[in-house]
Amino acid sequence: MAGSERFLVTGALGCIGAWTVRRLVHEGVPVVAFDADADVRRLRLLMDEAQLSRVDIVRGDITNLSLLEETLDAHRITHVIHLAALLHPRFRSDPPLGARVNVLGGVNLFEAVARRAQRIPRIVYASSIAVYDKSDAADDVAIMHHSPAHPTTLYGVFKQAEEAMARVYFQDRGVSSIGLRPATVFGAGRDYGLTAAPTQAVLAAALGRPFHIPYSGRSHVHYADDLARIFIACARSGYRGAEVFNMRGVVADMRDVVETIESVVPRARGSITCAGPSLELPDDYDAAALEQVIGPLPRTPLREAVTETLALFRSKIASGEIRET
Ligand SMILES: NC(=O)c1ccc[n+]([C@@H]2O[C@H](COP(=O)([O-])OP(=O)(O)OC[C@H]3O[C@@H](n4cnc5c(N)ncnc54)[C@H](O)[C@@H]3O)[C@@H](O)[C@H]2O)c1
Repeated sequence: MAGSERFLVTGALGCIGAWTVRRLVHEGVPVVAFDADADVRRLRLLMDEAQLSRVDIVRGDITNLSLLEETLDAHRITHVIHLAALLHPRFRSDPPLGARVNVLGGVNLFEAVARRAQRIPRIVYASSIAVYDKSDAADDVAIMHHSPAHPTTLYGVFKQAEEAMARVYFQDRGVSSIGLRPATVFGAGRDYGLTAAPTQAVLAAALGRPFHIPYSGRSHVHYADDLARIFIACARSGYRGAEVFNMRGVVADMRDVVETIESVVPRARGSITCAGPSLELPDDYDAAALEQVIGPLPRTPLREAVTETLALFRSKIASGEIRET
């Protein structure tokens, strides 16, 4: 099967996208990286030049349906992973732009695939736990597969719209899809936004600098490489239907994150701190329904994820690709 696969990853120059592209390149699978940006720094962080040269990069806007269609056909795409989006802080001053990318972009992708359903059996797309409010957790403990979702941000509302649209595209046009709802993401390439702080703290420790994580309490963290594996496994599953799944990563208190960094980099002891309000997000998720589709989920322990991330940052600092100043 792998020999006939040709993947399109939208938002491929972002954090989860770069890890997804890296995994596919390691497997020798042809992959088209579709992104509105031209900055390949995250791909460079995760791949050497030879690996990068095997990626077909298409610079394009997901709101452009005809370009999407051309790309799907020019590369005879068989598998689609849709990650392109504007994240929470990125459209604060321009909500209509957020809706264009996160909602219209999603419709475009579903429409383009619906017109090629014979070749492309399903779409795997990133939703988000932002569809939930903390009070959606059953008995205030965990979000279950069928927990109701009451988003409190426009970002969550746009993601919920994409989930609803996926259901209707299956009902009306037979387009299968799997939506995945990551919580917060950790790993090289996670470099902006509030919840990038744990990754930025590891980079600071590698550079011998102090760093403050501006929130506290428990949060649910996925290692970016685990997410890449889950997105790819879903794309390869024989799943038919339109379902959205929660995922289970690692639940960590920010103090545990700081202690883990300090235990891996003893000289950072005392220079990495955390304080502030806790994230108003549920911190535990039941992922049994997703495991029925793709089997046990990869869940890299926090210490291993921190150690791998530190090693990657240190090698890039040593090579001068990450500057110490
Ligand atoms: N990072 C998280 O904590 C998190 C949590 C839950 C869900 N998600 C979702 O996962 C997906 C990937 O997130 P990420 O962390 O890799 O984000 P990211 O911001 O690192 O990557 C998103 C990518 O989408 C691209 N993009 C933006 N607008 C585009 C457009 N109009 N056309 C084409 N490309 C465009 C950006 O250039 C960027 O490379 C997103 O859908 C996001 O909403 C992320």
